[in-house]
Amino acid sequence: MLEKHQHHHDTRDFDGITDNRASKVPWYFSALFFGLLIWGGAYMGYYLFSGWTQEGEFGQKMAAYEATHRPESTAPAAAPSSVAQPSQEELLAKGATLYGKRCRACHGNDGKGGVGSDLTQAAYHYGRDLQSVTQSIAGGRPGGMPAFGEQLSAGEIQALAAHVLSLE
Ligand code: HEC
Repeated sequence: MLEKHQHHHDTRDFDGITDNRASKVPWYFSALFFGLLIWGGAYMGYYLFSGWTQEGEFGQKMAAYEATHRPESTAPAAAPSSVAQPSQEELLAKGATLYGKRCRACHGNDGKGGVGSDLTQAAYHYGRDLQSVTQSIAGGRPGGMPAFGEQLSAGEIQALAAHVLSLE
């Protein structure tokens, strides 16, 4: 009875302590609360479902940086040179770096093999030409060679193939 009665008032008395009962949450607190909920959902959704990856973002930023910081280019925004095919030297350097990260564990430091086959041989089981090697890397081989087609870009596979073919 008492409870019910007192609910109709803005203040309430607890053993002499007066509690000022605001009847409603201020609208701006609700706005902030629901706004943050929506923002949080969108923020999480973007990073989870948009295909964003840490490596992808890093790659894009590095590419943008490299495009404007080539030591030999005096004009920073020389568009045609940044679109041009990489030189054989650049390709091999990129391939060697990628090899160190992705292939060395199985094929050894200098390609002499280990878990994976010896890549310094003059002839390969699946063929030692650009097309066969590209296929070996992108599609994998049944004897334990993983497929890298999903993880690496065409350019990266091209660079790796060039590097592999340069091994002797
Ligand atoms: C998990 C270990 C492993 C990793 C990592 C690996 N390989 Fe292999 N690779 C193998 C094995 C094992 C074979 C032999 C497969 C077979 O005979 O069917 C092989 C075969 C190959 C072949 C074909 C050789 C032939 O005789 O035709 C090439 C080319 C090759 N790997 C390149 C690469 C490159 C480039 C990378 C890095 C992107 C890489 N491999 C990463 C284990 C690996």
